[in-house]
Amino acid sequence: MTLRAVVRGVGHYLPTRVVENSEFEAKIDTTDEWIRSRSGIERRHFASGLETTSSMATSAARAALKDAGLEPNDLDAIVLATSTADLTFPSAATMVQHQLGMTRGFAFDVQAVCAGFIYALANANALIVSGQAKRILVIGAETFSKIMDWTDRSTSVLFGDGAGALVLEAQEGEGTAQDRGILSTDLHSDGRHRDLLYVDGGVSTGASGYLRMQGNQVFRHAVAKLASTAHTAMDRAGVTADEVDWIVPHQANIRIIQGTAKKMNVPMDRVVVTVQDHGNTSAASIPLALSVGRDRGQIKLGDLLVTEAIGGGLAWGAVVLRW
Ligand code: UT7
Repeated sequence: MTLRAVVRGVGHYLPTRVVENSEFEAKIDTTDEWIRSRSGIERRHFASGLETTSSMATSAARAALKDAGLEPNDLDAIVLATSTADLTFPSAATMVQHQLGMTRGFAFDVQAVCAGFIYALANANALIVSGQAKRILVIGAETFSKIMDWTDRSTSVLFGDGAGALVLEAQEGEGTAQDRGILSTDLHSDGRHRDLLYVDGGVSTGASGYLRMQGNQVFRHAVAKLASTAHTAMDRAGVTADEVDWIVPHQANIRIIQGTAKKMNVPMDRVVVTVQDHGNTSAASIPLALSVGRDRGQIKLGDLLVTEAIGGGLAWGAVVLRW
């Protein structure tokens, strides 16, 4: 028998304000055509002034708990992936713990930018398979609209806000690739690429700062690194590309998503794509895609999924799981 971290529930939250590409045309030197053709993005959601990463994370968490048929105090832990926590500290995860009314267990944030949800899944999986927790809420939540330089056309049109959450539960498996749950994880980072994608603020500067990105340089790293980490994770899980039901990639750019799928030999009709409606929501993009993919009827019980992401750091990785 092998302990597996199995998905018991999923949910998401998107702010009500939807911003179409055309809104940017009136403010900066850009066009709907440029944004669509270069990134695949058509619209994104932006948080209202009152909404924060923790408030959106709490809404997604409530939806996932409802889907799982569980109460907050049924959880042992919360692992929240974000780079836009409400405050420097305490963690957004402990704020969610309080907002949910969860009075037991432990909660912490994981910060690996757009790869954050992959890192969070790997951490939660390790806690479950080592017997330290039985039920973990894993959340990805971001308010990147609050770190946008609205005068920078090369970044401000790309990002959006939102949150997604999974409830993972320890269940016994057979130790084969037919088990439900997380089958393998693969993580990487390379700090030499710091300047490709960073926020020019933080405690050392006295201001929270704005996102800066050399998009075309990140793009160059993305396809090769994502395909490579996905292959490593699939090898580790003992599965092949033709067995994969769905790739659920980080939603940064449709061209990166297509390039990675091609390198993995998986056709686009087996890729969950939400980038057109959400933009790049960083650590929230994969759990949002999982939740929307499930709601659309794409992802079904027993399906084999490969998730992969890359972002600032650079940090990247992949998780193979059976839904
Ligand atoms: O999620 C974390 C990881 N991040 C990513 O994965 C993002 C990766 N990168 C990308 O998605 C793409 O590189 C972008 C969508 C950011 C840009 O696409 P690109 O094909 O790499 O374009 P580029 O940066 O090479 O820029 C091409 C041109 C430039 O003009 P010149 O120098 O060729 O005259 C830019 O100034 O497009 C110009 N440009 C724009 N034009 C209209 C940049 N932003 C805009 C804009 N509207 N919003």
